[in-house]
Amino acid sequence: MKFNRRQWLRSAALTGGASFISGLGIIPQLSAEEISKFNPRPLNELARLSSNENPYGPSKRVRDRMFKSFDDGCRYPYSYQNELLDKLAEREGVPKDHIVITGGSTEALKVAGITFTRNGGEIIASKPTFLAMMSYAQMWGADVNWVDVDENLQHDLTEMQKRISPATKMVFLCNPNNPTGTLLPAAAFEKFCRETSKHTTVFSDEAYFEFIEEPNYPSMVKLVKEGENVIVSRTFSKVFGLAGLRIGYIVARPDLAHKIRENVVAFTNVLALEAAKESLDDKEFFDFSLRKNKEAKDSIYQTLNDLNLRYLESHTNFVFFESGMHIDQFLQKMRDEGVMVGREFPPFSKWCRISTGTPNEMERFTKAIRSVYV
Ligand SMILES: Cc1ncc(COP(=O)(O)O)c(C=O)c1O
Repeated sequence: MKFNRRQWLRSAALTGGASFISGLGIIPQLSAEEISKFNPRPLNELARLSSNENPYGPSKRVRDRMFKSFDDGCRYPYSYQNELLDKLAEREGVPKDHIVITGGSTEALKVAGITFTRNGGEIIASKPTFLAMMSYAQMWGADVNWVDVDENLQHDLTEMQKRISPATKMVFLCNPNNPTGTLLPAAAFEKFCRETSKHTTVFSDEAYFEFIEEPNYPSMVKLVKEGENVIVSRTFSKVFGLAGLRIGYIVARPDLAHKIRENVVAFTNVLALEAAKESLDDKEFFDFSLRKNKEAKDSIYQTLNDLNLRYLESHTNFVFFESGMHIDQFLQKMRDEGVMVGREFPPFSKWCRISTGTPNEMERFTKAIRSVYV
């Protein structure tokens, strides 16, 4: 496989060296106030850096709101969604009928997949990418037309477009992509979605959208607003730190939103709805999460630079790097040192995805990976 060397970051200059206390890649410890407000995970025997969770949260503010809603645990959640729908409609700049709340965005992906392929047909998707939609749709009889990522491990938009046929029911695009962390150039992304949506439904998985630092990077909600055949999914699991509560949402044209809404099964629950509402107003936690994620990501870059391991610039809360040994072997070695890393993402068997963690978890990671390569 050929790689464009510009895609690889090796320079310490790019890694925000100011946030490091030492060459070990140790980042500033949290203050007592940050610990009480932002609920960092304590350092466990096994640092969980395998699922791209936010190691902080729920924040004190969100926990307080959830405590208050305990008493409503005897109620069905449906009427509790109205205030959240209002907030999300305002956030996305669309009327409420464009929003579908789901049990995590995983439910959004699964439900959208079967809504559009249950009578057969195929989904076009990159390999590797986030699999929830495709795995589920395949169980219901859909085909998946896999398109390998290009030599820069980026979505191959040209090839994806070429594969569109009458059998295509959906094109799935995860941007930034999981597990690569890559972000499509804004103009190419928008052009692809706009053109493709004339032929089939485009699904834009924007689980990591909030981590994008490029100014004015477009969400495909822009095309939803223009009435295009585009569906966008977002989640409260990442920057908002609510992965365990299971809440996400879809933004789509009302006719598409309606079809998807009819197939929602899990939906979500009262505590998650209350938490999500509060988290949208908790700007302090949001900014803190982004800042800590950047520091942790810089510390991962620094460590990989020191070890001369290649990696991709990430626009998310994880980094994909070439470990140079089969992931099963690498995963076990890291586990022995108290760190859980991501699973295999075929065909990249000698690559590893590592999520950002707290300063203590990052220090554990740094020591663990150094010990693997001594
Ligand atoms: C790209 C992508 N989409 C969706 C999800 C699902 O997240 P959730 O179901 O927690 O919203 C994930 C989780 O890792 C993801 O990486």
